[in-house]
Amino acid sequence: MSEQAPVLTIDGPGGAGKGTISGLIAERLDWHLLDSGALYRLTAHAAVKHNVALDDEPAVAKLAERLDVAFPVEGGMPKTLLEGEDVGRAIRTEQAGERASQVAALPLVREALLSRQRDFRQAPGLVADGRDMGTVVFDDAPLKIFLTASAEERARRRHLQLREAGVDASLSSLLKEIQARDARDTQRSVAPLKPADDAITLDTTRLSIPEVVDRITELLIQRGLATGV
Ligand code: DC
Repeated sequence: MSEQAPVLTIDGPGGAGKGTISGLIAERLDWHLLDSGALYRLTAHAAVKHNVALDDEPAVAKLAERLDVAFPVEGGMPKTLLEGEDVGRAIRTEQAGERASQVAALPLVREALLSRQRDFRQAPGLVADGRDMGTVVFDDAPLKIFLTASAEERARRRHLQLREAGVDASLSSLLKEIQARDARDTQRSVAPLKPADDAITLDTTRLSIPEVVDRITELLIQRGLATGV
């Protein structure tokens, strides 16, 4: 049964490396991948597209429930389609992240996305990346990781990433945005960002990506969820 498929949850604040780490581990294990943040980003994008105010909770929740999305891989490249339109780049901007954070604070929206997220739990396993994967969506997951790094380090990483993409951004304004987003994600009343009681916290401030992947792989092996790769 799909309910029995193992799930590795990777939660944490924005910029802690969840996306990169989750992708690498899913690839290594050949497991499915859920980027739950993309669903919030897509919901906010759909709201703007259909002229729905981001604080109109019932209307945004209705959009979330009916979200027409697909994640096809074309020519080896994963794509994000909303109503058939490639929005992969549009949902990755700072503004899109800010809007996603706003709709993510709406309880009806979170509820609307719940079963859609759980549908990703399929054999042979799932790596679920988000804020409430271990606390709410997959609270029975056999391994829960809470990935974190200092706000300064996360701003520095984001700055580097943007520079590589040819986008000029100020480090101090990125730091402010990260702190504001952290505050909103941790202080909201529904599914706030916090480690699950049984999560293992990994501070990646001074760890390289391969070090984090190796550490999580060791934990998966210890728990009998993976064999040595
Ligand atoms: O991980 P991300 O930056 O793509 O997430 C975008 C926003 O969505 C972020 O502000 C927090 C929110 N989010 C959430 O509330 N719950 C999740 N499971 C994933 C993301």
